[in-house]
Amino acid sequence: MEATGRTALYICSVLFILTDVSPEFIHIPTLVHHGIEGNSLLLSVETRFPLDEVEIQGTWSHTRLSGTRATLVTFTKEATITDMMYRNHLLFREPNVSLLIRKLNRDDEGNYQLNLNIEFHNKTGLVIKEERNVHVTVDVPVSTPIIKKDPSYAVVEDKANVTWTCSVEKGTRVVFQWLRDNIALGPSDRYHFSQDSSSLLISPVRKEDKGTYSCVASNPVSQGRYSRAVELNVYYGPYNLEVNSGQGLRTGEVFTINPGELVFFECQADSNPPNSYVWISKSRNATQVITEGPRLEVRSYRLAQAEEYLCRAFNNVTQKQDEAQFTLVVASLGTGKEKHIQGGSSVSLLLTTGFAITVCSLFFIGCMLLFFLRRTCHPKRVLMGIYNRPLSEQKRPHRSGHEDATEDFGIYEFVSIPGKMESAQASCRSLARLESGYSVQDMHTTIYDVIRHVPETPSHSLLK
Ligand SMILES: *[C@@H]1O[C@H](CO)[C@@H](O)[C@H](O)[C@H]1NC(C)=O
Ligand SMILES: *[C@@H]1O[C@H](CO)[C@@H](O)[C@H](O)[C@H]1NC(C)=O
Ligand SMILES: *[C@@H]1O[C@H](CO)[C@@H](O)[C@H](O)[C@H]1NC(C)=O
Ligand SMILES: *[C@@H]1O[C@H](CO)[C@@H](O)[C@H](O)[C@H]1NC(C)=O
Repeated sequence: MEATGRTALYICSVLFILTDVSPEFIHIPTLVHHGIEGNSLLLSVETRFPLDEVEIQGTWSHTRLSGTRATLVTFTKEATITDMMYRNHLLFREPNVSLLIRKLNRDDEGNYQLNLNIEFHNKTGLVIKEERNVHVTVDVPVSTPIIKKDPSYAVVEDKANVTWTCSVEKGTRVVFQWLRDNIALGPSDRYHFSQDSSSLLISPVRKEDKGTYSCVASNPVSQGRYSRAVELNVYYGPYNLEVNSGQGLRTGEVFTINPGELVFFECQADSNPPNSYVWISKSRNATQVITEGPRLEVRSYRLAQAEEYLCRAFNNVTQKQDEAQFTLVVASLGTGKEKHIQGGSSVSLLLTTGFAITVCSLFFIGCMLLFFLRRTCHPKRVLMGIYNRPLSEQKRPHRSGHEDATEDFGIYEFVSIPGKMESAQASCRSLARLESGYSVQDMHTTIYDVIRHVPETPSHSLLK
């Protein structure tokens, strides 16, 4: 116990003595200097003792990178002796004992050592010895780097290597860095940098290497200097071939369209240069080129028949191609507008309602004409009813006596209830079908069916 206590006390007193005995008499703000060739450099020293209370004696010496050592300046408070070889090159600055080096050259690089003995007047015999080291490098600022690409032309993915080189006319200890689209490039299994990074080999070149390249040169005395940007064009693809259409209903690779609807298909693939596209129809065994270009226009009336199509994209530089197959089915889908009504868009609601009213009005006119014609031909047969009231109230009293739908068009009802979204649809409706509770989607099918029956009547041309 006693021994450890004594050790602690001993350590404490040693620390106290050390801190007390070694106050900093000289301070050097910068220990490493990056000088510029041709400029002067001050190895600045701050003295922290009262100069008039001490005697000083010291030296500045220089050790070159090669190891050669020379004493540059010997000084006391009264006198300074500068080595003859350096008389015009160095300036010793009193009173703070800084050293100024004029017109720096590469030979001035290395370590500078300041040795200083300080003797205090009032404490005769006490000499404090100080030693400090300052490191100096001398560099030439870099000029704007020059970037080169080999080969200079555009290359094909996976088939070529590209070598980039960056060089500077002036500059020492230059470090290079490479950027693509302003993002620094690091080593990877396809990127091979030379030792000083002055060259970059990309082997092999890929699609993602496409971009704008530049190099940056820097050294201890120059911030990064940028070369001009050079484009690397890489031919690739086609990739990610896709067929899309704004119309119809898509389920995987099957597009369902309304009969008679004009549908556009768009074929897209990522490729450089842009692909050439060919559309092929595959009916039964035979394949047939229908059209070229990224767009296909189809209008089909053949119900419930599936047709196979193929979009083929070809890149005439990479000599690669890709295909996408899809099936076209023609079926009654209703119009897409009904979806908008349920979606609650007031604009499309208005449009749809307007559309429906127009259709109904036309139909009504048609019915009236038909009614007229029929009346003249078969005065006792047909009765037409036009209503502008809710369905539930009106359908029953007017149904009886009009079930014969083969010759007759039935009773048509115009429904328009403003306010509620669901009931705000206006449509013509065959009374014969009301019983089975047809939903909104079926209304157009109903209209369609009625129109299809029209040619049997004399009013055919008018309804069209
Ligand atoms: C040392 O003295 C020189 C000349 O008087 C002066 O230019 C320099 O700033 C001084 N340096 C410091 C660190 O005081
Ligand atoms: C690209 O470089 C690789 C080695 O990295 C070499 O095997 C290949 O032949 C080079 N290709 C071309 C087109 O020069
Ligand atoms: C490649 O196709 C493009 C159009 O996609 C065309 O302009 C170009 O002339 C074609 N080049 C060759 C070599 O066929
Ligand atoms: C399709 O081709 C096969 C053989 O190539 C042939 O036997 C068959 O009759 C063809 N079918 C049609 C519908 O052309």
